[in-house]
Amino acid sequence: MAYAAFRSIGAYAPKKILTNDELSKMVDTSDEWITKRTGIKERRIAAKNETTSDMGVEASKKAIERSGLDKSEIDMVICATISPDYFCMPSTATIISNKLGLGNVTAFDISAACTGFVYILSIAKAFIESGMKKNILIVGAEKLSAITDYTDRGTCILFGDGAGAAIISATENKNEAIIDVHTGADGTYADLLMTPNGGSGSAHDSLDQEAGSCFMQMKGNETFKVAVRTLTKDVVEILEANKIESSEINHFIPHQANYRIIKAVGDALKMKDEQVVLTVGKFGNTSGASIPMAMNEIYENGLLKSGELMLLDAFGGGLTWGSALVPFSPLK
Ligand code: UT7
Repeated sequence: MAYAAFRSIGAYAPKKILTNDELSKMVDTSDEWITKRTGIKERRIAAKNETTSDMGVEASKKAIERSGLDKSEIDMVICATISPDYFCMPSTATIISNKLGLGNVTAFDISAACTGFVYILSIAKAFIESGMKKNILIVGAEKLSAITDYTDRGTCILFGDGAGAAIISATENKNEAIIDVHTGADGTYADLLMTPNGGSGSAHDSLDQEAGSCFMQMKGNETFKVAVRTLTKDVVEILEANKIESSEINHFIPHQANYRIIKAVGDALKMKDEQVVLTVGKFGNTSGASIPMAMNEIYENGLLKSGELMLLDAFGGGLTWGSALVPFSPLK
């Protein structure tokens, strides 16, 4: 049987920084409020002509280079995004694979909001374990600034742009293998976090692509409470199912939604500060890109070593959630 190994990580953050002070000039908020309630100090914003696929390509180039593979060895691309280059089609994954010159590979997007990276990890693992694919590029990429309402202080303070990518490859060595991935969803909470307009469920008579039609709306406080409850339950379950203690985790890499959510889940797991990876302060919430961007941060700072165990945990619109136990298994 083939196992799935997490070989490499890469990420990209756009240059432009949007600070809390700048947001305070746009909506009725303050640096003090945003810092205290979310831990966010600044977020990155893509250039006007910079697309989700452009950012995904930059992250992918790093992940491919660090994997030691030739790009011709990649046989599938999966992109997790809620801010695709185009509404409906073509998928952002096909655009990324074309821009990278990957040739004839299977490519598709999935929509699981902030849980997107854990979902594509589970799909890649399944394709590899079934023997159908050997080297899969997974990409979480978001231009959330394109679907953010900058007159709504309840959401615009949270979101940012960026991308992260990873290579998942087949291995016969069980010690290198991704240990487990759990995913779940509950559509009864669909209205907590959504882009209500612009699709076939829209109140409009026809698909309305006017500016503003696809803006995100969120019931922040309710989402917060469900997030803490669900994330804690989810990580406890995956650790118990695999008989792993939280003290054995080298890096807890949660979705970077809000420092208070991360702290509550980390405390429930009795995680020490040095185990918890935090990038929410500098990147804000980048949805499907947030976990790989956070992982890339510890990799580039020399803190992620071969064989170390990562615990991923995410929660987002849908509602969706997921967790994963992943040893870092680079080839070089
Ligand atoms: O990534 C996917 C999942 N998303 C999340 O997990 C996000 C979860 N939610 C959150 O992070 C938090 O709920 C927020 C940061 C969005 C809001 O924080 P909160 O502590 O839940 O605040 P709240 O919504 O309960 O609002 C408290 C007060 C309200 O004023 P009143 O009614 O007490 O007078 C809001 O109007 O804070 C006010 N408020 C703000 N004040 C200044 C809400 N947003 C802001 C703001 N600046 N940006």
